[in-house]
Amino acid sequence: MDLSQFMPKDLVYPKAAVSLTEEEKKDYADKIARVLKEQNAAVIAHYYCNDDVQALAESTGGFIGDSLEMAKWGKRSSYDKLIVCGVRFMGETAKILSPEKTILMSTLSAECSLDLGCPAKEFGEFCDQHPDRTVVVYANTSAAVKARADWVVTSSIAVELVEYLHSRGEKIIWAPDRHLGSYIERITGADMLRWQAHCIVHDEFKAQALEKLIRMYPDAAVLVHPESPASVVHMATVVGSTSQLLKAAGTLPHKQLIVATDSGIFYKLQQACPDKELIIAPTQGEGATCKSCAHCPWMAMNGLKEIYEALTDTANTAKHEVMVDEDIRVKALTSLNRLLEFSDKLNQKKQFQ
Ligand code: 13P
Ligand code: SF4
Repeated sequence: MDLSQFMPKDLVYPKAAVSLTEEEKKDYADKIARVLKEQNAAVIAHYYCNDDVQALAESTGGFIGDSLEMAKWGKRSSYDKLIVCGVRFMGETAKILSPEKTILMSTLSAECSLDLGCPAKEFGEFCDQHPDRTVVVYANTSAAVKARADWVVTSSIAVELVEYLHSRGEKIIWAPDRHLGSYIERITGADMLRWQAHCIVHDEFKAQALEKLIRMYPDAAVLVHPESPASVVHMATVVGSTSQLLKAAGTLPHKQLIVATDSGIFYKLQQACPDKELIIAPTQGEGATCKSCAHCPWMAMNGLKEIYEALTDTANTAKHEVMVDEDIRVKALTSLNRLLEFSDKLNQKKQFQ
């Protein structure tokens, strides 16, 4: 079976959030802050969101993080309502973990190409053909795919989890990201049957052009998200999730950093290392289509106007509120809880080392 066949062909990218003047941004940020208080609500944003959305999360006491941290923060927070700024799987994850909370998104059409490239029915049939394998799926999947999995992982913990399963002699089905899957396989040596979807942002980073850039900046460290092609990962000084890259940026001695991940991360990178030169890795060069230009078109749908509307447009709740079928939610919760427990144990272990 060709496991890449489910990637949608000829994707039409959505319209980005409405662009606002500085004055309008301030006006929306003030209005949103008031509404959040009235509704006992908070903003949770992913590092790939636009700067103004991340600034809103900061100024209103919300949260910015990688996909694992977003899930954890949403679960332990005491707010009645969370407005998840990111893509739909992040909103679904919040709902699966916190069914008692109202989970809103500025739009429910914020897709992820990995999620689109792994339809639940076909994935379930594939798993049924390999009943001897443990099913591990990346968080960037629908609730229905998570419900079919034994484990959910994020990029911050995928290597450790597969290492653990491999040490127990388990053979694995991995989905959906082909690059992250091959990276984990290379590091762990685990027996993995890998689904072949890809992230349309990270897939565009180009090795040849990166090589040229490294020659121009020979003293720079290269930070790479593992959703990037293997040829790009090979040139990395550090490979890691968004949070891990941010941490590395702050601690590495290098004064120049070449960054191969979504450009939304520059908002926090600039805060983490204001004295360093930040250079985006090339998405242009041989074979480039440059559809995404290092910024996820679905993350870019999240904007201040859209967030305000989601919080106030009560006549159109269905356009914004994340709902997950209860049967699917309960099944997906089992595999997500395994992730959270594994992550907690790993953190405890690291503290004692
Ligand atoms: P992180 O888990 O590193 O945040 O990446 C998830 C992702 O791909 C968001 O688009
Ligand atoms: Fe999905 Fe890639 Fe966008 Fe992340 S950056 S949401 S993996 S398409």
